[in-house]
Amino acid sequence: MKVYRNHSLKDHNTFGMDVRCAQFVVMEHPDEREAMSAAHLFEAPFYILGGGSNILFTRPYEGTIIHPDFKGIEVMEDSERHQLIRVATGEEWDNVIDYCVRHNLYGLENLVGIPGRAGSAPVQNIGAYGVEVKDCIDRVEGFLTDTLQPFALSAEQCQFGYRDSIFKHELKGKSLITHVWFRLSKEEHYTLTYKALANEITVQDLSLETVTQCILRIRNSKLPDIRKIGCAGSFFKNPVVPENQYHDLLTRFPDLVSYPAADGMVKLAAGQLIEKAGWKGKRIGDAGVYPLQALVIVNYGGASPEEICQVFQQVILDVEELFNIRLTPEVNIL
Ligand code: EPU
Repeated sequence: MKVYRNHSLKDHNTFGMDVRCAQFVVMEHPDEREAMSAAHLFEAPFYILGGGSNILFTRPYEGTIIHPDFKGIEVMEDSERHQLIRVATGEEWDNVIDYCVRHNLYGLENLVGIPGRAGSAPVQNIGAYGVEVKDCIDRVEGFLTDTLQPFALSAEQCQFGYRDSIFKHELKGKSLITHVWFRLSKEEHYTLTYKALANEITVQDLSLETVTQCILRIRNSKLPDIRKIGCAGSFFKNPVVPENQYHDLLTRFPDLVSYPAADGMVKLAAGQLIEKAGWKGKRIGDAGVYPLQALVIVNYGGASPEEICQVFQQVILDVEELFNIRLTPEVNIL
């Protein structure tokens, strides 16, 4: 492991917030957990940070940031119909997709281009273009940070929901994910339920390469390139409302986009609500709402954490005033 004191987090969060932490620890191997525990690194306050693509640091962090940085993809089972792989937490997410494309493994291709690391994927059950990572997760392996007790949770035990899992609830701040196991299909199949994807791709053209390229084109047309513009993807979750509230809203906003959700509820598109509240493309200093996708809050270069907070708090207030819906952030705010 490597330990750095008073370390800048600027290169460890895609929002590009230049805040410092008291201590930054790079975990280079899962076996280091004993030594880390002996060094009191799992004593509060500590925070486990993957690729930093779903976090907003609003102030200096007075504790220890633990950055698991071990990589690797191992084949655990290889049958006629499936391959089971075990991916180390620090592996870049797009390397996992690249592995799948190269080995003709189906299931995760729609999740190409999502920034971040493999170990973070189950925490918020990353999803895009009709697929959620839970659909391919076989189990999640890690340990409890207080007792160092190892765990291996099945997909069911992970209690996956929309951008949700046990790691955001019971196991929040108490567990470190070391590996994620994915069961991938060798049988050619695609998820083309997302309209823009279905419209853009023809059946004769279908392959893992063409689907991933098409998804990347769609992503690039709406989402900022994080190498140039700081952001953390969708800032808010899409809100889920009761059906009667949705019908009331429809009388005022007949073009509201909606998707069926569990228990007869209706999921709305937060981006559309934010756009209707007049925030699309608006800025406060160097912080703003992205002009091509209002669900994304961006740092054009020099935004301070305060400016980003002003933007997202004002968006929440204005959307609430117009729709009586309170948006909840999807990014972690520290
Ligand atoms: N819309 C607007 N205005 C906007 C943005 C969107 O009217 O400024 C409308 C669109 O026209 C569309 C609907 O809202 O009818 C949904 O938009 P989009 O398909 O772009 O998806 P989203 O619901 O805004 C979600 C995920 C994204 C994921 C896309 C594609 C969440 C919080 N976000 O966004 O995930 O890429 O679907 O599947 O669920 C992320 O989590 O960081 C992320 C980028």
